[in-house]
Amino acid sequence: MARSTVSLPVFCLLLLLSFDSRILLELAKGQGKTWCVAKPSTDDATLASDINSACNDLGSLGLNCSQIQPNGACFEPDTLINHASVAMNSYYQAYGRQEHQCHFSGSGLITISDPSYGNCQYV
Ligand SMILES: *[C@@H]1O[C@H](CO)[C@@H](O)[C@H](O)[C@H]1NC(C)=O
Repeated sequence: MARSTVSLPVFCLLLLLSFDSRILLELAKGQGKTWCVAKPSTDDATLASDINSACNDLGSLGLNCSQIQPNGACFEPDTLINHASVAMNSYYQAYGRQEHQCHFSGSGLITISDPSYGNCQYV
């Protein structure tokens, strides 16, 4: 009878890894792209300030937040949480996806799944 190809210590390590979301996030970042969105629990004042700071900073790079302006691809749904997520992600991508660039006073959340929807592309 063939023995299992995965030894017990390796199995335990894999089990440990699979329960540590930080390690999973590190693995995901090594393999592909990550995105930054606003934490759903964030209050409106913080979301508004996140939008302002992200968009002002993008402006200094020659970029902009036109996608969350009326007629922009990400304007709908016209909510602060949606607009903040798009703006925060643009900022995070523009600066090379460093973890601290999705901090936003604790209101940012790095995700390993692409938040794009419809014509709104989280690039
Ligand atoms: C915003 O940036 C996009 C993409 O770089 C560009 O096509 C557009 O003209 C810019 N809009 C403004 C108002 O600067």
